[in-house]
Amino acid sequence: MKIVCAVVAMLVAAIASSQSSGNAENGKRLFLRDGCWECHGYAGQGSRDGARIASTALNAQGLIRYVRRPSGAMPAYIDKVITDQELTDIWAYLKTLPGPKPVKDIPILDQMKNE
Ligand code: HEC
Repeated sequence: MKIVCAVVAMLVAAIASSQSSGNAENGKRLFLRDGCWECHGYAGQGSRDGARIASTALNAQGLIRYVRRPSGAMPAYIDKVITDQELTDIWAYLKTLPGPKPVKDIPILDQMKNE
């Protein structure tokens, strides 16, 4: 009995941690399924229609809050469309994408900075 309890406790802990950190692989799938890419670009790089969200500065909770009640031109997504867990996965995926390059890594911009 004790062993069963220990195994159950471990499973619960594993599930809880996978939920809080999100599954980037599944997030990528959802990012494409739910059309986030249509405005934010395939790599979250942003476009005419949506902000850059690759490697977002928001935490998972912040992203969920934003998507439920966006502040501007973005449509809101209710939890019937995307659950909190799915948004956590999308967040984990966005965190795996590279952010903007620093100016010093783009030679022409780096030069202009010194002029
Ligand atoms: C119809 C176009 C459109 C779609 C589809 C869309 N967005 Fe957006 N999103 C925007 C625009 C435009 C903004 C910029 C701010 C605003 O106007 O609300 C934005 C802003 C955001 C921000 C805030 C960025 C920041 O750091 O301030 C997040 C996070 C975000 N979108 C996530 C998502 C996710 C996740 C999805 C898919 C579930 C999605 N968006 C789908 C247009 C869109």
